Amino acid sequence: MRYGAAPKMKTRARVTESHPADTADAELPAIHEQLMVFARELGQLYRLERSRSAELERVLRNLQDTYIATMKSLAQVIEAKDRTTRGHLDRTQAYGVALAKRIAPELADGPELGYGFFLHDIGKVGIPEHILCKVGPLSAEEWEVMRTHPAVGAQIVAPIHFLGDAVLVIRHHHERFDGSGYPDGLLGADIPLAARIFAVVDAFDAMTSDRPYRRALSLERAIGEIREGAGKQFDPEVVRVFADMIEEEPSPIWDRAESGLWDGGGPALVHTG
Ligand SMILES: [Fe+2]
Repeated sequence: MRYGAAPKMKTRARVTESHPADTADAELPAIHEQLMVFARELGQLYRLERSRSAELERVLRNLQDTYIATMKSLAQVIEAKDRTTRGHLDRTQAYGVALAKRIAPELADGPELGYGFFLHDIGKVGIPEHILCKVGPLSAEEWEVMRTHPAVGAQIVAPIHFLGDAVLVIRHHHERFDGSGYPDGLLGADIPLAARIFAVVDAFDAMTSDRPYRRALSLERAIGEIREGAGKQFDPEVVRVFADMIEEEPSPIWDRAESGLWDGGGPALVHTG
């Protein structure tokens, strides 16, 4: 009896203790099924979210492309009215990006620098046509109005965050290394590097292009004038690299500046307004 009682007690204990486990075992398939449903729903949500995110990115990219296309059209309309030559925007963008890649490659990593170069004169949209399109020299009062265009341009693009540092080129492309430029009279390295780079290529293109009031300079004379302006109008280091670039990289862009040009008289260090 003593030995026979024990199994009964064990049996009772097993029945009592195993009940929750048995219940859990019974519920496992249901829990598993529930987890599978959650997993499927989470997967669907994730895919939906990803596709929404991709759609949002696509819409955002389209908006940015449309914005840039509109701004470029506006810049080209201004170029067509302005006293600058056709193709000035494309050329200065090409010179500027090529030069930036030599001086500070990280500057040219994204598209912002190119945007800044192309849109540098976008503020001329605020300049009255009788000043913008005037063939003869501007009066002092007219220059005063013309010199508002970098600040106006910066105001136009400042709210457009994806343009990044392009706004610095637009605001500061008429600063001079010796501090005598505008709109802020910044001196030396206080001028954003992208704007120091642009100042050189802008002047170079202006000098090597025919204007209503003077003929284009030869490539050699233009480079000479740029070197002459080192430390005054231009950053000497930027000038050095620019001169090297033109010597080392013969290009259709540079070659264009050498064809059929007149090489005498007139102000060389032109101010492009
Ligand atoms: Fe300008």
